[in-house]
Amino acid sequence: MYTSKITGLGYYVPENVVTNDDLSKLMDTNDAWIQERTGIKERRHVKEGDGNTTSVMAVKASTIALERAGLGPEDIDMIVFATLSPDMYFPGGGVEVQNLMGMRTIPALDVRNQCSGFVYALSVADQFIKTGMYKEILVIGSEHHSGGLDYTTRGRNVSVIFGDGAGAAVVSRNTTGRGGILSTHLHSEGKHKDELALQGPSTSYWVPEMIENNPQENIPYYPYMNGTFVFKHAIVRFSEVIKEGLEANGLGIEDIDMLIPHQANLRISQFIQRKMRLPDDKVYNNIQKYGNTTAASIPIALTEAWEEGKIKEGDLVVLAAFGSGFTWGSAIIRW
Ligand code: ACO
Repeated sequence: MYTSKITGLGYYVPENVVTNDDLSKLMDTNDAWIQERTGIKERRHVKEGDGNTTSVMAVKASTIALERAGLGPEDIDMIVFATLSPDMYFPGGGVEVQNLMGMRTIPALDVRNQCSGFVYALSVADQFIKTGMYKEILVIGSEHHSGGLDYTTRGRNVSVIFGDGAGAAVVSRNTTGRGGILSTHLHSEGKHKDELALQGPSTSYWVPEMIENNPQENIPYYPYMNGTFVFKHAIVRFSEVIKEGLEANGLGIEDIDMLIPHQANLRISQFIQRKMRLPDDKVYNNIQKYGNTTAASIPIALTEAWEEGKIKEGDLVVLAAFGSGFTWGSAIIRW
C-alpha cells in the first residue's frame, strides 16, 4: 500500500487588517473583551475591489504550495476543497480552482465540514493516495467570512471571531520511504447541528421566505453560535481525538513535536495545552493575527509553523479540529 506525504504548503490572507478597535466602531464591543475571551487582536477582511473571493484566495495559496512542491497545475490529479463560504451556493469552489489554475479535467471534490473541513479533506486525499488511484492531490481550506457576518451589536459574539484567508497543501504519493501521514481520525455528532449553524439560504429557508417570516431579531441568514456549549464540547473532543490518533500509532503525548489545533479560540487551544501538559513551543497558535478562519486555519498555521522552521523532518506533527456539525478530527503526521 502507498502512503502520502505533504510536499508543499502555502497560505494567503487579504492585506486589509481589521483590528478590534475597528470593530468597536461598528458594534458595541472593545479590544479588552475580545482579547480576554478569544485571544484575537486583529483579523484580515476581504476589501471591496481587491478581487479576493474564496476561490481566488484558494488559488493564491495553492500557487505557493504547488511551487514549493516543485509541481505545476498540470501535475495535479485531484482537488479537495474545504469551505463553508463558497463563492456560490452551487457549484462549490473546487471547480473554480480547476478553472482559474488551468488544470486538466481532474476531479474537484468539495468538502463542507466547517472548522474540521481541512482535516476531513486531508483524510480524503490520504485515502485516494493510499489506494494508488492518484499521485498528487491539492488540498485547500479557504474562507471569505467577512461578506456574510452581522457587523452590528446583534452579531457581536460571532462576528468578532472570524477572519478571511486560505491555506493549501500538496499531498503526494510518498516516494521517500520515510514519514508521511500516519493516520487520520474523523467524527461527527449531528444532534448538536443547531448549536453552531447558518440556517439559510437553504432549502429550509429560501431568501423571500426568510425575509417574510423572520423578524429582524431572528435572522437565520447570519450564523448562530451557542458559544459556551461549543466551548465545552470542543475541549473534550479535541483532547479525545488527539489521544485516539496517538494511540492508533502506538504513540503518546510526549511524542508530539508540534500540535496545530484549529484556531477556534486561543482559550480553547490553551485549555487543551494545559490538559495535555504540552510546553508552549509544542503548540502553534496564530489566531491573534488572523482570527478564526475555519477550514483555512489549520493549513495557514501549518504553513506558518513550517516557514518559521518550527517543523523539521522527522517531527511528529498533530493536526486537530473541532467545529460545527459537530464534527471533529485529527491527523497524525511524521514530517
Ligand atoms: N463584545 C462585548 N461583549 C460581548 C461580545 C463582544 N464581541 N459578545 C458577547 N458579548 C457579551 C454578551 O452579550 C454577554 O453579555 P450579557 O452578560 O450582558 O448578556 C457577555 O458578553 C457574555 O456573553 P457570553 O456569550 O456568555 O460570552 P462568553 O464568555 O461565553 O464568551 C465566546 C463568548 C468567546 C464566544 C465563548 O463562548 C467561547 O469562547 N466559545 C467557544 C466557541 C468559539 O470560540 N467558537 C469559535 C468558532 S467555532 C469553532 O471554530 C469550533
